[in-house]
Parts: sequence; structure tokens; C-alpha cells
Amino acid sequence: MANSEFILEMLQITKRFPGVLALDKANLALRPGEVHCLLGENGAGKSTMMKILAGAQPMDSGEIFIDGEPVVITSPHHAQQLGISMIYQEFNLSPYLSVAENIFLGREPRIGRSPFIDWKRMYRDSEEILKRIRVDLDVRRPVNELSVAQQQMVEIAKALSVQAKIIVMDEPSATLTDHELVALFDLIRTLRASGIGLIYISHRLEEVFEIGDQVTVMRDGQHVATKPASSMTRESIIRMMVGRELTEEYPKEFFKLGEERLRVEGLSREGAFKDVSFSLRTGEIVALTGLVGAGRTEVARAIFGADRKTAGQVYLDGKPAEIRSPQDAIKNGLGLLTEDRKNQGLVLGMTVRENTTLSNLSALVKGLFINRKFERSVAEKYVHELQIKTPSIEQVVQNLSGGNQQKVVLAKWLFTQSRVLIFDEPTRGIDVGAKAEIFKLMNALVSRGVAILMISSELPEVLGMCDRVLVMHEGRLAGQLMRNEASQEKIMHLATGMSSAA
Ligand SMILES: Nc1ncnc2c1ncn2[C@@H]1O[C@H](COP(=O)(O)OP(=O)(O)OP(=O)(O)O)[C@@H](O)[C@H]1O
Ligand SMILES: [Mg+2]
Repeated sequence: MANSEFILEMLQITKRFPGVLALDKANLALRPGEVHCLLGENGAGKSTMMKILAGAQPMDSGEIFIDGEPVVITSPHHAQQLGISMIYQEFNLSPYLSVAENIFLGREPRIGRSPFIDWKRMYRDSEEILKRIRVDLDVRRPVNELSVAQQQMVEIAKALSVQAKIIVMDEPSATLTDHELVALFDLIRTLRASGIGLIYISHRLEEVFEIGDQVTVMRDGQHVATKPASSMTRESIIRMMVGRELTEEYPKEFFKLGEERLRVEGLSREGAFKDVSFSLRTGEIVALTGLVGAGRTEVARAIFGADRKTAGQVYLDGKPAEIRSPQDAIKNGLGLLTEDRKNQGLVLGMTVRENTTLSNLSALVKGLFINRKFERSVAEKYVHELQIKTPSIEQVVQNLSGGNQQKVVLAKWLFTQSRVLIFDEPTRGIDVGAKAEIFKLMNALVSRGVAILMISSELPEVLGMCDRVLVMHEGRLAGQLMRNEASQEKIMHLATGMSSAA
């Protein structure tokens, strides 16, 4: 096997969790200087495969070769010694330490043989690494002052400082702005040119064509195919991922417009957004879009009572609503699905059943007791409707794949019977097939009289699913477009402040 053309081969990897066969004789082969995209539906086994490579999970059976030599990876530290580096979505950085300290954490250079850290050398070496990847950062700054994208760059610098030959990125683009994504892709190209092999996981298929050399598709823990990216189309990838033809990515339905459900007048929050007014009627899905940082999430949080507004009024069903907390909002039939499932959406240590019913326990109470049978049937129903991939409703949410956790957030809000739902980036980390299912579910909600405000940066889904588009720019509403007049260009125009009103 030595002198292999592959820097890495994973063969016949099998991994079983209680009730789940996560990997079923899966294969992956990576060449040096290649960007290898790893694709598959939520729960297909991508992250598990990579955790095994990074020494974070043991495999049940299978073989791994590095440069043609068989290896048994025993720990994350061992993986690092073998030249494998994984950039997790939840970074492993120490927030209060500087960029340089993070890059050299645990391997700080010493002055001679003394126990004292050679700060000068550590700063200089850090600067050199950052220069190599053309990242302009003050190495003395604590990392908690950096943006998500910059933190990602620090993670990559750290990988380079330990001489990684194989770098794995698991959904790195999910939290980046367009601008930052361009920088990340530049960096990936630089790494590729230096002979590093990269494994890149993403649910945004357009990225495959922009950055990918090879594509491996997985389904139900198995290897489906590996092909050059240039030989594939969006359709062929989807077919391999989902295992069938996906008739419609955006199954938009139209409904008759009814009464006004939500109205916002002159809503402001100092330092975040100013004078935002719009309304939402039954029968429609309205998009709130704009560049990341334009204030969309802040507006949603203020409506929901999660942040204090400094001016303005919210009306529900035509009446002024006093919403001072999320509890008030839920009582008033208002729901907010947050983009950050890890911090706000779920209790990770609790089960699928508990998370689904947590925000609306009162609906389950019969006399003095919670009706457990009804609770189970509710959870079963949503697992079925949303096709949540889990061995049972008693699985702790922590053990679900990223995309399936996101579906549990959705189940939770569906069960609150809200009449106005604000979805903040509802399809982030969700595979294409499941996306279409979520959109169908939105249709069903709208047909039942729920009004939906959808915050999204994905313009194709905004154009595909929404009746009306509100565009924010620097904390203000820059304009509104009706479905039939909206286009990517017009939205970008408004979002970048190039035209003032629509
Ligand atoms: N620690 C665990 N305990 C039990 N089951 C697990 C554990 N980790 C993963 N699984 C299960 O293994 C399967 C594969 O999960 P994995 O996270 O690898 O999927 P994925 O392809 O990364 O999906 P996504 O695109 O949603 O992130 C899923 O059914 C998941 O629920
Ligand atoms: Mg994953």
C-alpha cells in the first residue's frame, strides 16, 4: 500500500450507536492538494466519519491509511501527530487568550531550557503563519474580540502550526457572511496549492462547484459515489444524496390573503436598528433579508421580547401587544425559531420528546398530571412529519446529527400553536431534500392561518418561497419588493444601500 497516490484512505468504516448504524462500510480517499467535498443528507454519517478520523470517536471496524501506511488512531492528540486537523463548528479556542496563545496552546515556545514562555518568538511565529495564509490579524488580541470568521482563521492557523497535512472543515460556511466566505475560499485555495488535502462538508451545493475537486456522496452511512466535481451537476448530486428525483426545491403554494396578524410600527433599538415598520397578514410568507449584520435578527428579537425595544409598537391581530419577554410572546401566540440551535433553541441533554413539548407543557396537562401518552403521540407525530432521523423519541438531542437537531427546534415551535412564526435562517445546515419538506410544512402552516416572517440570507429560497420581500440595510428597512417584481439583483441593490426606496 505504500507509495499510494492518496494521502488518506478510509476503508470499510463501520460505526454503530445504540439503535443507529451511523456508518456502514463507508469509504473515503483523499489526494494531496485536493479539496474533497463530503456530501449527504442530514444524518448520513459525514460528521461521524470525520470524528473517527480526528480521533474523537473510535470505529467498530474498518481500516485507515495515511500515505499508504495503516494507522490506528487512538486519540485527538494522536490524530494531530499524524497530521490531521479538524476545524469544528464550535471552535476549540480559549476566548480570553490572544490569537498567538491560541495558535500555540500547549506547545508554547520556551526561552532556552527554562520554563518561561518565549513571547517574542511566539508572536513572531504566529505572525508568520498568518502571513503565509494572508490573514491580517493582531496576534495580541484576545480571540473573543474576533468575528466568527476570524476565529475560523485562527483555527486554521493553529492547524498549520502543527503541520497538518489533512484539514477537515465541517460546515465552515454556515455562519459566515458572503465577504468572509470569499476570504475562506481564498485561504482554502492557498492551502490546496501547498499540497494539503482538505475535506469540506457543506449543505450549500453551489460551493461544491466553486471550491471542490472531488465529491463523495454518502447516504445512510454508506458510500454512494466519488466523482470529480466537474463531472457533476446540481441535479445529479441531489439525486445521489436523496436517492430519488427531487421534483421541486421550492414547492411554493399561494393562499388568499386574510387579516393582519402582526404589525410593527416605528420599532427601534438604539445601536441596532431604527424606525422599522411593516405588517404581516394571514396567508403570506414575508421575507426579511439583507446582509448579515443589517439588523434582521435584532428586529426579530425585539418583536419577540428577547431584547428591549427603545421605541415603537407591536400589534397582534390589530391590537397593541405588550411583549416584555419571550414568555409574553409565546402567550400571545408569537414564536421565534432562532438560528443558533446550540444556544437558544434546545436543551441538548434532554430527549426529542422533552424538547418538543417543553414550551407548551400546559397543553399536555390533564387535571394535575401531564398526559404522558398524549405527549408521546405528539412527539411521534412530529418525528414522522419532519422525518427526524432518530432511533426513538427518547433519544437525547445531543446525539442527533446537526440537521436533525434543527428539525427538533421546528417541532417545538409547531407544537406551541403559534399564530405568528418568525423563522431565523430556518434551513441553515439542513439538506436539500429536508429543506423542501420544511417548505411544504410552512405551506401547511400558512394554509391554517399562521403568518410567517422568514429571515434568510439565501436569496434563492427567499425568491422561491416568499410572497413579499423586506430588505434591510444598516439597521433600516431599505425597501420592499412584491414576489413578482423581486430578483436577486434588486434585493442586492437594496441590501447594499445602492438605492433608497422601492
Ligand atoms: N454520539 C452519538 N450517539 C448516538 N447516535 C449518534 C451519535 N452521533 C451521531 N449519531 C447518529 O449517527 C447518525 C449519523 O450522524 P452524523 O452526525 O454523522 O450525520 P451528518 O451526516 O453529519 O448529518 P448533518 O448533515 O445533519 O450534520 C445519525 O443518525 C446520528 O443521530
Ligand atoms: Mg454533521
